[in-house]
Amino acid sequence: MRLNNKVAIITGAANGIGLAISEAFAKEGAIVFMADIDEIKGIAEAERIKKTGAIIRAVQCDVAVREDVEYLINAAIAEFGKIDILVNNAAVAIGGNIMEMPEADWDRLMDTNLKSIYRTIKAALPFMVKQRSGSVINISSTQAFRSWHNWTAYAGAKGAMLSITNQLAGQFGEYNVRFNSISPGAILTPMNAKRASEEGPDFFAKSETMHAMNRLGTPEEVAMTAVFLASDEAGFITGEDIKVDGGLCTLPRYFE
Ligand SMILES: NC(=O)c1ccc[n+]([C@@H]2O[C@H](COP(=O)([O-])OP(=O)(O)OC[C@H]3O[C@@H](n4cnc5c(N)ncnc54)[C@H](O)[C@@H]3O)[C@@H](O)[C@H]2O)c1
Repeated sequence: MRLNNKVAIITGAANGIGLAISEAFAKEGAIVFMADIDEIKGIAEAERIKKTGAIIRAVQCDVAVREDVEYLINAAIAEFGKIDILVNNAAVAIGGNIMEMPEADWDRLMDTNLKSIYRTIKAALPFMVKQRSGSVINISSTQAFRSWHNWTAYAGAKGAMLSITNQLAGQFGEYNVRFNSISPGAILTPMNAKRASEEGPDFFAKSETMHAMNRLGTPEEVAMTAVFLASDEAGFITGEDIKVDGGLCTLPRYFE
């Protein structure tokens, strides 16, 4: 029960990494607000996790809409009077060669993946500052560190998340509010299942070889790092990025 009675908000919680984080947090005793644009899947997953005895709320929320985000934060405050953990996980995967990428695609990606964390942090941080405690975890990506053909906007948003994490860690440390990020390698989630269906059957095999460990990661492996960063065990860790990438960023490797 490493998160006992902590109130946690997780965006993009209905699938993949956000869902695994929700389950892991609930198992550790947290009160979990599962926020997702997909209301039906969000409610279904929340009902399933609730059967384990956890306190779970499913909130329909588009992180690209300020009113939705404010509703989400206010719902947690109205019911429990505090927010201990905020996980900014919601994102969309929109690729595109910068020479051809329509401006509308660029804007949609930035609005959902990057400006969304301005909205959530702006709404939640005043309560964390007031209560003199909080842990904000931004889900970035190894794409912030490495070059992938045609993923400029996505990588740019993820890199900016790292800078924002650093900035805020410096500014709000004295209030005992911690800001950290996680940069996963390729993880087996619906996001990558969609890419495999678009990019062809060898997508997974090619992705595996990018990792020193020659496999993709699981959402649960990312979730356990989030549990650690959210818990009091990480009480003196702020401004940090933890790669959960099976050694992707240690490569390239040299083959004899
Ligand atoms: N899967 C990977 O290999 C990988 C690697 C590195 C980083 N990441 C990051 O991890 C996070 C989760 O990725 P995933 O693979 O689990 O994705 P996913 O597509 O499987 O799930 C994302 C969830 O976010 C929700 N969502 C999408 N747009 C939203 C919006 N506007 N408002 C609220 N919810 C919205 C979706 O409904 C979905 O439930 C993302 O930030 C992603 O960029 C993923």
